[in-house]
Amino acid sequence: MKGSVMSLLVALALVAQDRLAGGQEHRSYDYTKYHTMDEISAWMNQMERENPDVVSSMIYGQTHENRNLTLLKIGFTRSTPKKAVWMDCGIHAREWISPAFCQHFVKEILGSYQTDPKVSMLFKNLDFYVTPVLNMDGYIYSWKDNTTRLWRKSRSPGTGNCTCIGTDLNRNFYANWGTVGISRNCCSAVYNGPTPLSEPEAKAVNDFLGAHQNQLLCYLTIHSYGQQILIPYGHPNISAPNYNDLMEVGLAAANAIKAVHGKSYKVGTPPDVLYALSGSSSDFARLIGIPYTFTVELRDEGHYSFLLPEDQIQPTCEEAYQGAMSIINYIHDKNFRGSASTVTATLWTTLVASWISSANVF
Ligand SMILES: *[C@@H]1O[C@H](CO)[C@@H](O)[C@H](O)[C@H]1NC(C)=O
Ligand SMILES: *[C@@H]1O[C@H](CO)[C@@H](O)[C@H](O)[C@H]1NC(C)=O
Ligand SMILES: *[C@@H]1O[C@H](CO)[C@@H](O)[C@H](O)[C@H]1NC(C)=O
Ligand SMILES: *[C@@H]1O[C@H](CO)[C@@H](O)[C@H](O)[C@H]1NC(C)=O
Ligand SMILES: [Zn+2]
Repeated sequence: MKGSVMSLLVALALVAQDRLAGGQEHRSYDYTKYHTMDEISAWMNQMERENPDVVSSMIYGQTHENRNLTLLKIGFTRSTPKKAVWMDCGIHAREWISPAFCQHFVKEILGSYQTDPKVSMLFKNLDFYVTPVLNMDGYIYSWKDNTTRLWRKSRSPGTGNCTCIGTDLNRNFYANWGTVGISRNCCSAVYNGPTPLSEPEAKAVNDFLGAHQNQLLCYLTIHSYGQQILIPYGHPNISAPNYNDLMEVGLAAANAIKAVHGKSYKVGTPPDVLYALSGSSSDFARLIGIPYTFTVELRDEGHYSFLLPEDQIQPTCEEAYQGAMSIINYIHDKNFRGSASTVTATLWTTLVASWISSANVF
């Protein structure tokens, strides 16, 4: 008897969970596999179609091969400007776990904002701008065959006498461009391009960040591999004014990650934990005043490197999700800590005022 009641309850709970997750359609997308650009684009359309109240899309540029750079804007709509969090994935083509993470992140927040008050509060106060694949041309090239699988750069041709293809988008930003950790040889994997922002993908991000710089509280860019949370700056001779705060938030995120599957992520500036570099998107974001900017290097530590097997997608994304949420919740609470008590105070004033005016009636 007891057993059948239990299994009925379990069955009901499973049905409820299925409905919350959006039922069949969500389930048909396999988040434990790597997906082609076409599949990811179709998935973006699906997210927008199935969640019209909280998801919209925006084209903010074109790639060298004329593909539309599209982001998902996620949050409750409001007529007044909201603060925002930016997340981009896939700036380096071969880091396939990165686009997989952006999709996992979107799936998780869309699956929980109706039931988790914390995520609901994030949707109320923040917009998420998520670009699942920034280097679309390179990503498609990395899917071509097994000789192109390790492609990193964009797909624009070299200029002048240099005829190799591609610029490292994460060396092409206006942030001490061309000073350290780059190559001027266009055949190199870290070629920084003929000029800053020579690449339309970097230019599109530059322009979007510039146009939203007062709105953006947080810039997150997702890479692999190495298991690191990197804070500004990549240049060894400059230091972020909020270095201590960034370290503290980064270390808290690393702890949140470790609590999930025991993986260790190092926290620090690129020169301290990786190597010095210039022209990165996150240095640019911090330089224009976005306070919390992080580059996250996902699994692993070099065993599979860029060829992380599909059976590690789920655990990698689960732990990184907790890391990202640790950062985002910190920033949210820091900025909106007073908002609940403000609401209460306003209510109280209104109540007292209406009591006084109704007292006049008596
Ligand atoms: C880019 O978006 C525009 C506007 O929606 C559309 O007309 C165009 O066909 C798109 N281009 C590609 C290559 O998808
Ligand atoms: C590419 O795939 C072919 C056919 O499956 C295989 O024989 C070859 O070893 C692979 N090359 C690399 C570099 O993985
Ligand atoms: C390109 O090659 C030509 C001919 O070899 C040479 O004269 C010129 O200086 C080169 N330009 C650059 C930028 O290296
Ligand atoms: C950093 O400063 C030192 C001392 O002034 C200098 O030697 C070094 O070249 C600088 N590094 C970079 C990357 O500019
Ligand atoms: Zn990378």
